[in-house]
Amino acid sequence: MTGRGIGFRKVILFNEHFVVYGIPAIASSIDSRIEAVVERVDDARDVSGPSSGLLRGDGWVLEDARLAGTGRRVEEFHEVEPLLLVFEALGLDPAEENLKITVAGDLETAGGIGSSAAFCVSVARALSDEFGLGLGDDAINRVAYEGEKAYAGTPSGIDNTVSTYGGMIYFVKNMSGGENRIERLDIESPIRIVMGNTGIPGKTRVSVSGVRRRREERPEEYSRIFEESRELIREAAAALKGHDLEEIGRLMDRNHELLQRIDVSHPMLDELVEIAMDSGALGAKMTGGGLGGHMIALTPLEESQERVATAMREAGFEATPTMIGVSSTKAEYRLDE
Ligand code: PMV
Repeated sequence: MTGRGIGFRKVILFNEHFVVYGIPAIASSIDSRIEAVVERVDDARDVSGPSSGLLRGDGWVLEDARLAGTGRRVEEFHEVEPLLLVFEALGLDPAEENLKITVAGDLETAGGIGSSAAFCVSVARALSDEFGLGLGDDAINRVAYEGEKAYAGTPSGIDNTVSTYGGMIYFVKNMSGGENRIERLDIESPIRIVMGNTGIPGKTRVSVSGVRRRREERPEEYSRIFEESRELIREAAAALKGHDLEEIGRLMDRNHELLQRIDVSHPMLDELVEIAMDSGALGAKMTGGGLGGHMIALTPLEESQERVATAMREAGFEATPTMIGVSSTKAEYRLDE
């Protein structure tokens, strides 16, 4: 028997970082996901595979089949801690089992695309499937949040939420520790974007703690910026609901400026934003933790998407055309059914 599960990859469209402080944010799954497969084996120690893509622990072996197009792995293989946290949150003791877990992605790209949450979600689903735990989305989301703590300390919860439910989501962290506000934001039709990759690994932990420190050091300046982000998100939700693409683009630009002001951007992210705007994107911004990692450009037409991706590649960056706002259905959760 094998257990299977998927997790959606995601991008944060508006208000990463601000979301950590209870300000609303909007994120979307992209047209890509990670699939995890859990198999019981006689002895996990006997499982062999590509040495570069194999991790071992007590009673389990994990194979990363998320190969990049170039033959490189999609991202640093650093999933031991999150995997152990997911086991623990599910009440499973891997030392009592013999498990082989394989994770694979359907998007050929080098450079991780916020796939840490998708990893936790897909593995949680596959384990729930294999052990007959029957966990629904809400429970999976909670388990994946525990796994995410390994990457980000005290994450806001937006990443695992979007990786669990898919689609476009308006998210507000509950600052008192209760249930977060999670609302589906339905848009008229999926929108094309390009993801630009700086090639520098994102440093979410570092950037989140930097914001915390500077916010304490410069409370007045930061409170003004945070208020602007609160206003911006209202306009962003309205623009997305109204499918006002030009306005969405303008607001992405403004959001990028706010993120620059809290010092989480990077010269290469800024350069990619400029390249995207110069080659016809309607808006562009960094996405996620920053200080490296990815940015996104709004390119609703196929032709502008191609032009922007080409411009990024010509400048030596990796570019991935994809979509936001692709609706997800529960039926998709098991790829083999
Ligand atoms: O770097 P990512 O893609 O995992 O996104 C981090 C998002 C932050 O808002 C910076 C942190 C958080 O916990 O929400």
